[in-house]
Amino acid sequence: MAFTHNHTRKVVLITGASDGLGLAAAKKYAQADFTTVLAGRSKEKLAKAVEAVRVAANIKESQADLKVYSLCFDLSDLDSVRRGVAEFLNLNIPLNILINNAGIFTTTREFTKASNIFEKTIMVNMVAPLLFTELLIPRMKESGGGKILIVSSNTHNPEQAVPLSKKKDTKRLILPLDNLDGSKEWDGQDFYAASKLADLWWAYVLADKLTNSEPRITVNAFCPGAVPSTSLAREFPWILRKIAPMIFPLLLSNVLTPEKAAEQYLAYGTDPKFALDNGFYYQRGSKDKSSDESHDMVKAKTVYNLACQASGLNDHQVAV
Ligand SMILES: NC(=O)c1ccc[n+]([C@@H]2O[C@H](COP(=O)([O-])OP(=O)(O)OC[C@H]3O[C@@H](n4cnc5c(N)ncnc54)[C@H](OP(=O)(O)O)[C@@H]3O)[C@@H](O)[C@H]2O)c1
Repeated sequence: MAFTHNHTRKVVLITGASDGLGLAAAKKYAQADFTTVLAGRSKEKLAKAVEAVRVAANIKESQADLKVYSLCFDLSDLDSVRRGVAEFLNLNIPLNILINNAGIFTTTREFTKASNIFEKTIMVNMVAPLLFTELLIPRMKESGGGKILIVSSNTHNPEQAVPLSKKKDTKRLILPLDNLDGSKEWDGQDFYAASKLADLWWAYVLADKLTNSEPRITVNAFCPGAVPSTSLAREFPWILRKIAPMIFPLLLSNVLTPEKAAEQYLAYGTDPKFALDNGFYYQRGSKDKSSDESHDMVKAKTVYNLACQASGLNDHQVAV
């Protein structure tokens, strides 16, 4: 396919790049000479982020339009997601690496207009990114293949120490299938963890679907570490947000700055040692084991199919 400007640089598209880890990762990729597409939901924040990336990567203002792009759409609105895809396709540039990084951690049970099967945290953190990704896979194929990275979290795993968790039963199910809407029980922390488990289910099912893809597309997921200085906990009381960066290093071993975490975003996308991986979970810069529940492929495929139905991708479903 002939791309605009005979595009020769590799292109990375990062969702949630207007803030936090996504913005830090966009800077790293731009510094590594990638064309960087920053996706976010606020035009104002994106404009500032694009400028921050330009400055961090020492890109001349005259070159900025060709090297750093922004894409504005809202993951809580599937029509907006489809418009975001169309806008990206209209740029007519390749897509080599897609990092599904955007995410929310909410304190109230809400729904988006597209679904009452999944509550909002799962919609924004898994269903909408799934739609975005599936619609971009053809462009990745036209680009000669590529890498899809999905940002999950260690919180998906009840066996790994979560010092602030209210529930201590490490063997409990994080996400029973009859409670995807939170109608039986809803808690912000639990549903954040559930959405990150759903991210792993999606990663493993999609990796399986793309196993023999030609050109090759791989799918892997990772936890970026605990990075309390981002805006993720923005809905929580300010006092908690204030003390979290001080307390977390005392409770957790993998507390990082956004810049340090962003090095992993770059490594998982570009380091040759990860090049052939498909269907893996990374943590602390290497492969790691995700929870037992994340490897329940019946649940994984069931939730994947429900997400396809919720986003109008009925023909993308898999046999369970
Ligand atoms: N920070 C941690 O300790 C940690 C640990 C494990 C995993 N993670 C994961 O890392 C990822 C990035 O988190 P972060 O800590 O960098 O959080 P953050 O600072 O809050 O950044 C989240 C990004 O997602 C965007 N976003 C939120 N809702 C959106 C929506 N409806 N539509 C489009 N974009 C939306 C935000 O846009 P706005 O700027 O407009 O709000 C922002 O750019 C998340 O998936 C999170 O679950 C974080």
